Formats: sequence, structure tokens, C-alpha cells
Amino acid sequence: MLDIIATLQAEAETFQTLSAEELEKFRIKFLGKKGELTRLFDDFKAVPNDQKKVIGQKLNVLKQLATAKYDELKNTLDSSKHTIQLLDLSAPAESYAAGSRHPVNIVMNDIIKIFNRLGFTISDGPEIEDDWHVFSALNFPPEHPARDMQDTFFISKTPDVLLRTHTSSVQVRTMENQQPPIRTISPGRVFRNEAISLRSHCMFHQIEGLYIDKNVSFADLKQTLLYFAKEYFGADTKIRLRPSFFPFTEPSAEMDISCSFCKGNGCAMCKYSGWIEILGCGMVHPNVLEASGIDSKVYTGYAFGIGIERMALRKFGITDIRMLFENDVRMLNQFSKFL
Ligand code: PHE
Repeated sequence: MLDIIATLQAEAETFQTLSAEELEKFRIKFLGKKGELTRLFDDFKAVPNDQKKVIGQKLNVLKQLATAKYDELKNTLDSSKHTIQLLDLSAPAESYAAGSRHPVNIVMNDIIKIFNRLGFTISDGPEIEDDWHVFSALNFPPEHPARDMQDTFFISKTPDVLLRTHTSSVQVRTMENQQPPIRTISPGRVFRNEAISLRSHCMFHQIEGLYIDKNVSFADLKQTLLYFAKEYFGADTKIRLRPSFFPFTEPSAEMDISCSFCKGNGCAMCKYSGWIEILGCGMVHPNVLEASGIDSKVYTGYAFGIGIERMALRKFGITDIRMLFENDVRMLNQFSKFL
């Protein structure tokens, strides 16, 4: 019996493995219910009393050794499994889906950059507004059609809450809070109760520009817009100002740029006129300055408002305005290079 114990002890001492299968075999052989140790402890009952002390000790040492060996190898195996997983340098890297800028955002940022270079700051205002900031302070007469249910989304009549129909409302908020000189642009989302179609939507974006100081003239407005047009559309771009009407500017104008597709010769893009309408502008009406607490005898100013969607459609050759608001990733992914 001592021989068997010695042989098993030598085997347990030298046993090494990195395989879970081999280790399990070791466990069954040594520590299993029908294993060597169980058998030896059974045989031990028949050992004569005078040998029991020596053999008993050896048997216990063997049992401890086999158990310790099993535990040690099991630990190594478990942790090495973990380490191997963590350190598998050949595993392929996880790929991240890169987002892309929205075409409206791309155009907006390009325009903002140009006016930043001219010293315009950016101001922001709420999309949910009141009658004063969207209409009354901007010299809209009470019966003006823009206040009509067909154009404006009214949320409640009393108190008067509505969705802003243009970012000119931010112009009022800026003038209320700041004395001239003011030179700011306000990019933002606006809402109009219009039927959604290929060419128009009930939600779109504008950038409103405002400059108020002493001696600001229409010539300043024209020069600023010419600079913007050349920077944005190319150095050979021409501009044309047509008389127009807005309640909050006097005189008012609409600005066209020479069509960059046909160089003014006439094409489908410019409806064969050679010109494309880009924005509305004018000198801020004295009533508007006074309504916001600015002395119209001391200060003058100009304002302009650019619609972003139309510029984005043209820039990227998108034919349907609704595509800008459907959030179809197949369409939006195409703009990732503009990040
Ligand atoms: N707010 C005008 C619009 O929404 C645009 C505009 C802004 C015109 C500033 C003149 C001056 O159509």
C-alpha cells in the first residue's frame, strides 16, 4: 500500500496541464467518488492497527497534495482563459459607425463662418414665442395676413403663444437686451402652417442678420451681402437687389445672385432668368428700433434673412425638400465627408 501511495504521490506532484479535459481526468482519477483516494481510504480500514499511523499520515498528505494540485491548476486555467480573451491582439477591432452632418447644418455652418469673419456674433432665441416678438414689435399691423391661422401655428390665444414664423424675433430680443452697436446673426428653426410638398415644408431654417450702429446705410448692407455672395457662391458671383416689402424694414429688398450653373445665360435652375433669389433684406424700420427701446434718431441699421433649405437643396442637388426632414440614414450618410 505504501508503494501505491508513493507512486500516486509522484504522479500528482509532477502532473501539469493547460487542458481542462486533462485536469478533469486528473480529478476523477484522484478525487472522484470512485477514484484512487476513495479506494485507498476503503483499503485503509483493513490495515493492521500498528501500521495505521504511518499509512494514515501518508494517505492524508496524498489527499492534500492532489486537492491542492487540482485547485492550483484549475485557477491557472480559469485566469489564463480570461487573460487570453483580453489580450487577443489578433481579434478584429470593433468598428464605429461614424455620423455625418445634416445638409442643413453644413450650409448653416458655412454661412455662419463667413459672417463670423465680418465680426457678427451668434444669438439664439426660443422657437416657441409670443405675438410681440414675432409680429407686433416688428411693425406688423394687427390685420397682417401672416398672423392669420393659415400661416402661423398658434398654440394659445390668451396668453398668446405661437411658433415663430421667422428668426426676426431674435432680432427683437437682442435689441431689447443690448444697446448698439449690435452686429449679430441668428440661425434657427422656424414654422409656418403650409402644405408639405416637394418645394415647401411647415418647418425650415433661417439665418437672420442684424447690424445697428450710428450711420449704418443701405450701401453697408449691399456691400456686406456682396461679400457674402462672393465668399459663398464664388468670386465671380453678381448680386441684384429688387425692391420688396417687409413690415419691419424700409426700404426693403430681395437679393438675387447670378446663376452659378449657367453663368447668367438661363437654365432650368434659374428658371431661364439668369438669377436666383437668395434672401430678403432692408433697413430696419424706425418703428422697430423704437419698439425695442433704441433711439431711431441716433441709430440706423440693416437686417437680412436667408432661407437655408433652398440653399442646401441647390448645393447638394436634392430635388425634394421633404428628404431633409425624413431622417433616412441612406440619404444622410452621403454627407459624412463634410464632418
Ligand atoms: N423675416 C423675413 C422672412 O422670414 C426675412 C427678412 C429678414 C427680411 C430681415 C428682411 C429683413 O421672410
